[in-house]
This record gives sequence, C-alpha cells and structure tokens, in this order.
Amino acid sequence: MPLSHRWTLTRYLIEERRRFPGASGDLNALILDISLACKAIARIVAFGSLGDSLGTTGVAEPAGGATNVQGEVQKPLDVMSNEIFIRMNEWSGHLAGLASEEMDEPKQVPSAFPRGKYLLVFDPLDGSSNIDVNVSVGSVFSILRAPADVVDSGRDVTEADFLQPGATQVAAGYAIYGPVTMLVLSVGNGVAGFTLNPNLGEFVLTHPNLKVPEDTHEFAINTSNSRFWEPPVKRYVDECLAGKTGPRGKDFNMRWIASMVAEAHRILMRGGVFMYPRDTKDPAKPGRLRLLYEANPIGFVMEQAGGRASTGRQPMLGVKPSSLHQRIGLVFGSRNEVERIERYHHEPATRDNGSPLFAERSLFRD
Ligand code: AHG
Ligand code: MN
Ligand code: MN
Repeated sequence: MPLSHRWTLTRYLIEERRRFPGASGDLNALILDISLACKAIARIVAFGSLGDSLGTTGVAEPAGGATNVQGEVQKPLDVMSNEIFIRMNEWSGHLAGLASEEMDEPKQVPSAFPRGKYLLVFDPLDGSSNIDVNVSVGSVFSILRAPADVVDSGRDVTEADFLQPGATQVAAGYAIYGPVTMLVLSVGNGVAGFTLNPNLGEFVLTHPNLKVPEDTHEFAINTSNSRFWEPPVKRYVDECLAGKTGPRGKDFNMRWIASMVAEAHRILMRGGVFMYPRDTKDPAKPGRLRLLYEANPIGFVMEQAGGRASTGRQPMLGVKPSSLHQRIGLVFGSRNEVERIERYHHEPATRDNGSPLFAERSLFRD
C-alpha cells in the first residue's frame, strides 16, 4: 500500500477519539509523547556500542551498575531509557505521576509543570539482559486514571494510587526494538500494531485489529526452572513434550527469548503460550515478572486481541495489586492453552491428575 494511504499513529488516535465526542485529547497527546520516548530509545538501542550506552568505551557512561529496588543490576541503557520516559512525559500536564521498574518510589510531576489526570507506569527497557547480545528488547507501558482526589487536589501521588487492577487500564502497549521497531497499542478497542518508518520517523499502522489465534502448538518457558515448577505447570509442559504420542495428540515446538516483549510480540503475530509461572525457587518471589508494568499491560493487550492472561489461577486483570513492584506468576497467549493451564491449576493435586504422563514418564519429575 502506498505510504499516503496508510494511517499514522496520530490519525489512528484521532479516529479512535471520534468515538468519544467529549474526549479532551489528553490521552492521545500522552500516547504520542510515549511514542516519542520509544522512538528515542529505539535510536539509542540501534547505535549499540557506538553510542557509549553499553559502557564499553568508558566515555561519558551514564549511571548504571547500581541495583534497582528489585535487586537487579541496572544497565546504563535501563537508566537512560527510564530518564527518557520521564523527560518526555512529565512536562505535558497530562500526568499526575509516574512509576517504573527502575524507580523505588513513584515519581512526582515537578512543580514547574501542571498535573493531569493520568498515571503512567512503565518498564523502560524489558529484556535488557539481551542488549549485549543484540537480541530484541522493548518498552512496556500502562496508563491508569489517577484517583479523583489526586486530580481534584493536585496532591502528590502515593504508591496506593497506582494499586489498581489491570482491568482499569485506559490504554496499554509496548514498543519492540528488533530488526524493525514497532509500537503495539490498545486503547480498549482491540489492538493495533504500528511500524516505525525510519525515513519519516513516524509510526505507521501496519497491523490493524491484531488477533491471537485461539490454538497453538508453540510454548515458551524457561525450563532451567523446571525443578521449581508447581505440579500443574509440570503436567502442562510434560504433555506438550510428549507430543503426538501423549494426551495432546500433537507435537509442540518451544521458544525462549528471555525478552518478554519479544515473546509477547511473537504470540500476537502467530499464537503461542508464554509462562513465567509462580514457582518455589525463592519463597520471597512469587514469580519473576512484575504485575503493574509487565503482566498488566501485556495482559491487557492479549485480552484485547482475543487471547488470555492469567496468574495460572485467576485472570491477571482482576488481581488487586498489593505493592508497586509486586511480582506475580504470568501465563498469557492463545486462549485455549491458557484456559487449559488454569484448569490444571484448579484440578485437585493428585499424582494421576488425568494425565498418564504426570508421574510415571515425566521428563521433569522430581
Ligand atoms: P527486565 O529486563 O525488565 O528485568 O525483564 C526481563 C524479564 C523478561 O523480559 C523475561 O521474560 C524474563 O525476565 C527472563 O527471565 P530469565 O532470565 O529467568 O529467563
Ligand atoms: Mn521487564
Ligand atoms: Mn526492564
């Protein structure tokens, strides 16, 4: 299709807004600012070692090497991406506050700027352990409404203001910095994918109305954790591995990129199921991924695309968060597979569990 016939992200947002004649345009402006932050991060990522951001030249290296509140080492690019998100969004008057993986506490909008009605929660660089090996990374974002009293009083935001179930998200999405940079977005009316046209510096609508296929024969899980998995997860993976000769009656393929955004994108494009389930590895960590800025936005996109997102036990978007950096078991993707995994979690934990492979021939039995 000629470029002139394609919608830009701006046009998509304006066409969506027309469905709500009273809408102020604040949400659209906020999303465009987020998209600009993503474009800036895409450029820095694309320069790799040339941009000094990997700290390989020793020149003007930004802060990094510190640990964030999760106890994870921050890469210089984690810090830079966080800074870009803040600088491109704090000034606009659309936000009441921001929160991110890389900041212990919520960030207040500086007093020099007006405060608005939305909260922005983000993982500025997801999969950053993959940066050094030139594998796709991304940014994940979630937009919530600020509680009414925050908007009315203009008071500082607190952690509690952000602790809203994922179902209340106004919009959510991610940018993926791969061979192609894309922005995938839901404003609550399906999911649309935009490809960055590097000549124009514009996101262009290339994937309208994305749908996750209901069925799949591809699963993604870090099997090095298998000895820590709970029985329903072991059962599910065993059955996939048993393939044609097992209870599923078909062969499965496996993928693990260790970059959630990249896995989510693959699943949106061709189906699949992703699991980073709750496990017994570290009793202090009920899961690896974080509810507010990883599980909820990706869950919102999946559900809006006809897929499903779950803790394994309950729908992800119904979970009432208990803290800003809460970790949670995450399962998402093709609806029928996620529902099957939920079913396994709800079935009584017997050794035969309906699966002849569960105990006797388990490849991951303990
Ligand atoms: P982040 O880089 O934001 O800390 O997130 C990394 C996450 C996620 O992208 C990925 O699915 C997972 O960590 C990989 O974990 P393992 O290294 O345990 O496989
Ligand atoms: Mn992440
Ligand atoms: Mn991150």
